[in-house]
Amino acid sequence: MERISTVSAMQARAKALRLNGRRIGLIPTMGYLHEGHLSLIDEAKKYSDITVLSIFVNPAQFAPNEDYNNYPGDIERDISLAEKRGVDIVFYPSVEEMYPDKQLTWINVETITEVLCGANREGHFRGVSTVVTKLFNIVKPHVAVFGQKDAQQAAVIQKMVDDLNMDVMIHIASIVREPDGLAMSSRNIRLTPEDRKNAVILSQVLFRAKEGILKGESIHSVLAAAIKDIQAVAHAELEYIEARSYPDLEPMTDFNNDLLIALATHFGNVRLIDNILIEKSS
Ligand code: PAJ
Repeated sequence: MERISTVSAMQARAKALRLNGRRIGLIPTMGYLHEGHLSLIDEAKKYSDITVLSIFVNPAQFAPNEDYNNYPGDIERDISLAEKRGVDIVFYPSVEEMYPDKQLTWINVETITEVLCGANREGHFRGVSTVVTKLFNIVKPHVAVFGQKDAQQAAVIQKMVDDLNMDVMIHIASIVREPDGLAMSSRNIRLTPEDRKNAVILSQVLFRAKEGILKGESIHSVLAAAIKDIQAVAHAELEYIEARSYPDLEPMTDFNNDLLIALATHFGNVRLIDNILIEKSS
């Protein structure tokens, strides 16, 4: 497995691969890899013959009050996991390499970034869209894989690619969960043992909501039940739980189209998100 940490070396490598007719698959991550990230590698391999895993904790997508400085990391562990999973190139630039100068150019996807996570994370999606664009320009992928775990992020990236005619195919991979149902996240490690046990409530309320919707209960009543169940859990501070159309993220009151139920909840200073998609045909 190759390790590349400069933009110029990655661009030169990508150019050579393209000249040789190779299909490049990119998996952008912020590292501290878990099975959720690793499943994206498997997905990327289906559509490409050279996989590039990027590891970069992007300061531009964290607000000043957020956990940029506490974001977990272990680059040697990540590199070894990536190698075992069959990644061809790990690209892990420094902040100075990615942002050598004051960044004056930003990608801003409108409206769908202003709801759900965007309502409380000022500038977050602007930072995500911008760094993903930079990664596309550096790695020159034919295909990029993102996780449904960050459903809004996936919708934002797909919209950006469509609106700006970016020549990259986006694939979205399903959410990988712990055996008790908690969605895997690099942040789970920061939960106290008690909060880790209690965090199972997030997937439970989503599974129950889906069951309720499919049985014909109203969106309003399943959301009310979910709110009550989360509020009953010690330390769980619900930021939002909402039902929206997907991928347009319009508010939904009736189950007449594919539906996303998404939530964010804080346990102490750890912010967790999860979601479930309910297809109209299911
Ligand atoms: P990060 O949180 O490291 O996630 C990297 C990718 O892994 C994202 O596409 C995310 O949706 C996916 N992922 C995370 N947990 C998952 C799970 N349990 N199941 C399936 N996929 C999962 O998302 C980011 O980094 C950043 O915003 C990034 C896109 C890299 C831009 O900086």
